[in-house]
Amino acid sequence: MSPFLLTRTLPVDATDAALRADVLHGLTRHPKTLPPKWFYDAHGSELFEEITRLPEYYPTRAEREILIDRADEIARASGARTLIELGSGSSEKTRHLLDALPALHSYVPVDVSESALRGAAEALLAERPELSVHALIADFTGGLALPGTPGPRLIAFLGGTIGNLLPDGRAAFLKSVRSLLSPGDALLLGTDLVKEEKVLVAAYDDAAGVTAEFNRNVLRVVNRELGADFDPAGFDHVALWDPGQEWIEMRLRARRAHTVKIPALDLVVGFEAGEEVRTEVSAKFRREGVRAELDTAGLRLDQWWTDSGGRFALSLATAV
Ligand code: SAH
Ligand code: AVI
Repeated sequence: MSPFLLTRTLPVDATDAALRADVLHGLTRHPKTLPPKWFYDAHGSELFEEITRLPEYYPTRAEREILIDRADEIARASGARTLIELGSGSSEKTRHLLDALPALHSYVPVDVSESALRGAAEALLAERPELSVHALIADFTGGLALPGTPGPRLIAFLGGTIGNLLPDGRAAFLKSVRSLLSPGDALLLGTDLVKEEKVLVAAYDDAAGVTAEFNRNVLRVVNRELGADFDPAGFDHVALWDPGQEWIEMRLRARRAHTVKIPALDLVVGFEAGEEVRTEVSAKFRREGVRAELDTAGLRLDQWWTDSGGRFALSLATAV
């Protein structure tokens, strides 16, 4: 196998069609919504990397701590020859796993962001020219077709990205992951944990305003891809903790009443002053909740590790 393969599993116009459908559906309902996967064009992926270095954004540091402490245990338990990573982004934390897996044959990063996949592969191959990287441009919520690399396979879903799916979407996602696992394969799942509200809100409303720019980036994506005339500066960034759902909600709040034209959809969208668009939920978890969700999908929680501050958890699960 050549050291780097990039496969687009979606037809070239699928992203465009999916964006149109999401924008039409999300902006013609009340309350308005836009799904978080549209944050991640090249600029959005860079903004996310900037977020991971912010003092307020603890999840990346907490998860890295667990990976450093537990990489050998994970490697021994999984014996993986293929590491598949969903929503891999920069693959930066993944290095700790790659280094610990002695029998690794292939790394398969999966992401909607082509720029993130290319950047990650370039950086990894510069350090590890012997690694076989087969990157997939794909949506992890829609029936993944994985390459025929050797097992056992470890599927990693890090960063707490599972929390960006709504409960029904999470259940469907975990079922689809379960269907990809053969005996001997495992799932490594990162989940951010419920904690004090002010710590959570600060992580999603940082003082430097990087998360606010990340949030507004979805409007820039819709402008560029669908010819819309959103003024991102006309929207305030909002981050709220919902104690009932145990999730952070990010919203964009219109500063004044106005209309936005979206020519590619032949649509004009009205906003009232103060009207909000929900752009992301980021669910926070407890051990028993994770266990129950895995269980419902036919997965067994075998290991549960947290960082020293008890802020974030990594779970290792296998098919029952
Ligand atoms: N795993 C990395 C990156 C997390 S950011 C970390 O822990 O730091 C979330 C990543 O998931 C982004 O790279 C984004 O492009 C990707 N992503 C978001 N929704 C996706 C989807 N539906 N399918 C595939 N990738 C997705
Ligand atoms: C990718 N995901 C887990 C991040 C999160 O924390 O929910 C995305 C993010 N949104 C705002 N800041 C970071």
